[in-house]
Amino acid sequence: MHHFTELSDVPDPHKLLDQAQLIKNNPVGNQQIGKNKTIVLLFFNPSLRTRISTEKAALNLNMSCIVYDASQGWKLEFEKGITMNTDRAEHIQEAAAVISQYADIIGIRTFPSLIDKEKDYSDAILRQFQKYASVPIISLESAIRHPLQSLADWITIEEFKEKKQPKVVLTWAPHPKALPQAVSNSFLEWMQIADVDLMITHPKGYELAPEFSSGIPTEYDQEKAFENADFIYAKNWSSYEQYGQRLAVRENWTVTPEKMARTNNAYFMHCLPVRRNVVVADEVIESDRSLVISQANNRTFAAQAVIQEILKLL
Ligand code: CP
Repeated sequence: MHHFTELSDVPDPHKLLDQAQLIKNNPVGNQQIGKNKTIVLLFFNPSLRTRISTEKAALNLNMSCIVYDASQGWKLEFEKGITMNTDRAEHIQEAAAVISQYADIIGIRTFPSLIDKEKDYSDAILRQFQKYASVPIISLESAIRHPLQSLADWITIEEFKEKKQPKVVLTWAPHPKALPQAVSNSFLEWMQIADVDLMITHPKGYELAPEFSSGIPTEYDQEKAFENADFIYAKNWSSYEQYGQRLAVRENWTVTPEKMARTNNAYFMHCLPVRRNVVVADEVIESDRSLVISQANNRTFAAQAVIQEILKLL
């Protein structure tokens, strides 16, 4: 594996899953591979889990890790051939090439505009780093995908599943702000190769991009979708059709104990951060069926498996 930006970058995702599980059993067992290697993590947007778990993964591999708050750095220009007489002081072509001099791997977090669908769905910022950097790129969440989160979620489902092919339901949930579709898109992308019975539930108007959702059963009645579910994965996202908008929703889509009671004693999952009593009731997130902390823990082993696979080919 050279880059890690989406599922198709991974030659054997099941092998990567196995690797992550092995690493979890012995996180510091392969320190030779990272010796004298450096990873630079660029954050254009805030992060708690991704930043700390990826740094922890690098430390477990004996790598140096440099974190750069790109939101506070020189503003980057991404347009080719432009006359740079605005506030954008540095062009991506130089920035990516320069960072490549300091790093063996570059990680990038960047969120969508939620204004320009075409630009967001071209994943322009991530892809331009990929184009102009001379070292491998890891997505730490891009405009449209969050593959490290999805790998951690897959590890978690494999750890906790109580039957060979559990029913996994991705449910839309309310949120006071318009959020990206990245976590949900990626979750669908990765769950389609997992041994699960996958379903989506959301209010009408919140259909996800066809490139991620086509072929997956959708149930517009949330309570019906929850029936016999083994895992409930809650996430808010803004509308794809009416791009980036929060649409009016009459029903209450918060995940409550009453709704969880309709499931097959399902586990509750969320990538975090989560708005309590908006997305999910306290009683659900604090219950012994809540996996949110286990998911966050598995972020380290997902990141470590990915970095290790990339280092093997350097
Ligand atoms: N789930 C996740 O990516 O969390 P952060 O935004 O805190 O990194």
